Amino acid sequence: MTRVLLVCLGNICRSPAAEAILRDKSEKAGIDLEIDSAGTGRWHVGKPPDARMIKAAGKRGYDLKTLRGRQVDTGDFYTFDLILPMDTSNMADLEDLAPPDATAKLRPFLSYGVGGDVPDPYHGGPSGFETVLDMIEHASDGLVKALASRRA
Ligand code: 4NP
Repeated sequence: MTRVLLVCLGNICRSPAAEAILRDKSEKAGIDLEIDSAGTGRWHVGKPPDARMIKAAGKRGYDLKTLRGRQVDTGDFYTFDLILPMDTSNMADLEDLAPPDATAKLRPFLSYGVGGDVPDPYHGGPSGFETVLDMIEHASDGLVKALASRRA
């Protein structure tokens, strides 16, 4: 069992989408993962994902409605095996937060996809959500493949 934490800024757009997509893809591939998501910020703690992301992800068959926002805490650096930030700024914030004896491995989420950052769609239009979902689906396929070959 590998424990994976997906991290963005608000935990209402990118990381909850990544949580649902990775859960779907890993279940279909028969890979046993424990998956959660969190934000580095605390504005949306306890809140459901952004309605625009619920709608865009829902059209692709991913149900985000029951997810609730939470903030990253130091315990996460021991509970999870892999912590995967959506962008460079999330990575920098996690590096600042990480205790010196953290056991989790920090790695950019898109290192399993096209590399670089998943752009923050919060202040943009609807096409931003589609781009984000495309990137997340692609990187989730890459992560599932990497974990499957590690177990083979
Ligand atoms: P996320 O998007 O990090 O993908 O969840 C954001 C959501 C909210 C805010 C920023 C980014 N915000 O500033 O409230």
